[in-house]
Amino acid sequence: MESLILILYILLAITLVRTLLSILRSSKPSPRLPPGPVPLPVIGNLLKLGDKPHKSLAKLAKLYGPIMSLKLGRKIVVVVSSPALAREVLQKQDLAFSTRFIPNAIHTHGHNKYSVAWLPVADQWRSLRKALNANIFSGNRIDASKNLRRQKVQELIEHAGKCCREGVAVDIGTAAFKTSLNLLSNTVFSIDMADPTQDSVQQFRHLIWQIMLEAGKPNLVDYFPILDKIDPQGITRRLKSHFGDIIQLIGRLIDERLELRGLGMTRAESDVIDILLNIIEENGEINRNHIEHLCLDIFAAGTDTTSSSVEWAMAELLRTPETLEKAKAEIEQTIGKGKPIEEMDIPQLPYLQAIVKESMRLHPPVPLLLPRTVETDVEVYGYTVPQGAQVLVNVWAIGRDPSVWENPTSFMPERFLDLDVDVRGRDFELIPFGAGRRICPGLSLAIRVVPLMLGSLINSFDWKLDGGMKPEELDMDDKFGITVQKAQPLRVVPFLV
Ligand code: HEM
Repeated sequence: MESLILILYILLAITLVRTLLSILRSSKPSPRLPPGPVPLPVIGNLLKLGDKPHKSLAKLAKLYGPIMSLKLGRKIVVVVSSPALAREVLQKQDLAFSTRFIPNAIHTHGHNKYSVAWLPVADQWRSLRKALNANIFSGNRIDASKNLRRQKVQELIEHAGKCCREGVAVDIGTAAFKTSLNLLSNTVFSIDMADPTQDSVQQFRHLIWQIMLEAGKPNLVDYFPILDKIDPQGITRRLKSHFGDIIQLIGRLIDERLELRGLGMTRAESDVIDILLNIIEENGEINRNHIEHLCLDIFAAGTDTTSSSVEWAMAELLRTPETLEKAKAEIEQTIGKGKPIEEMDIPQLPYLQAIVKESMRLHPPVPLLLPRTVETDVEVYGYTVPQGAQVLVNVWAIGRDPSVWENPTSFMPERFLDLDVDVRGRDFELIPFGAGRRICPGLSLAIRVVPLMLGSLINSFDWKLDGGMKPEELDMDDKFGITVQKAQPLRVVPFLV
């Protein structure tokens, strides 16, 4: 009898607490969400996204303004689409917005627990960023690896030279991907991961693209967590298999290195994997899982972004032959026709640098940055960004905003010649690498590699579109994932004049 009374008391207490909580919740003023389209019951605004969310969200921002909110299933998504709002989120309130919104599929292989791109801003993330900055991206490290870049760009030009002799087209995206992959794999493991056969490059590129596609695709599970176990679009299943393939490959390379170290065979000069293995021995903060996932981050984040930057810029140049002529003339006068370009030449090539900025304005490789969230309600411009909302910065929309850029859809590198605007995260009208504490750590490397590859291609050959295509016929459509790629690969034939 006494225990029954006790249970009744407990149930009564639970009911009272629940009632009290719901009264408190309902007495809390409802947050003033940014404006946005009216949501449909249950699905909310999901149908508005389409298969190119950067474009559909840019269209919606024209109607609802530079900060808007959508309801996707059970989630609130806040999208910012102007330089002022991007500054607010990425700089002024950087800390509040620095946690990533983790897509459900990213939990596969524990990637969310080990990846520098997805970990919250805390000790493990700091250790990994520190390891990256000190061992790959510091000024000294980047200077020290300049010969490697010279050699890999030379190999790119040799490949184009072979295509030139055979009169066949170069697939610019794949060729630039191979260069980026081998640059990174030599930095980390001292090997060429892309072997001389084009097939292996294409397979690896396809794998990285599948990761970008699956991780970027709107996933119903993110908006209806109850669907977690069902995985209706199969996104988690496929991402698990793609991550598994790369982690297995990386794991094998790490094992080989551990074996050599076990035999006392150390390298004369440590590469990144050696340094990371030393860090594991000295520092309890990171372990082998972190290293495997860090390598996955480096190959996923550093290859496709760099190669598609080169491909888009080359496509824009071929579409506007007068800009290609200007770029060739600048390099010819400064360096000499056909001569190899060195990294130290790039500051003397303002038009080439303007081309890279202009291309990244029109085709930012990561159009919505990586998604963020807030851990408590945050006020922005009088609106509430509610706790747990997904926050997207539409860099693609900012780059094409007519109130920011004159003739926003035209490719006009000249606009940057007298404009003190840079891509390093200080000028919020041009932030292809993001900004604030989560800014891309690979920025310093990318801003050397992209103009180097592009300038070398331009200075070594003349180019014409494959199949006698006219410049104005070039298809500039894109396909969306975390990164955007050219939907139709750019194929161009090099020739010597
Ligand atoms: C043109 C080339 C590149 C572009 C446009 C680019 C762009 C970006 C962007 C937009 C972000 C998200 C920033 C944010 O949320 O604010 C990012 C993050 C990141 N990028 Fe890059 N990236 C490039 C090259 C590279 C390279 C070469 C590497 C490494 C080898 C790299 C490694 C990373 C990593 C690890 C992150 C996650 C950082 C974090 O969350 O703390 N990226 N990148």
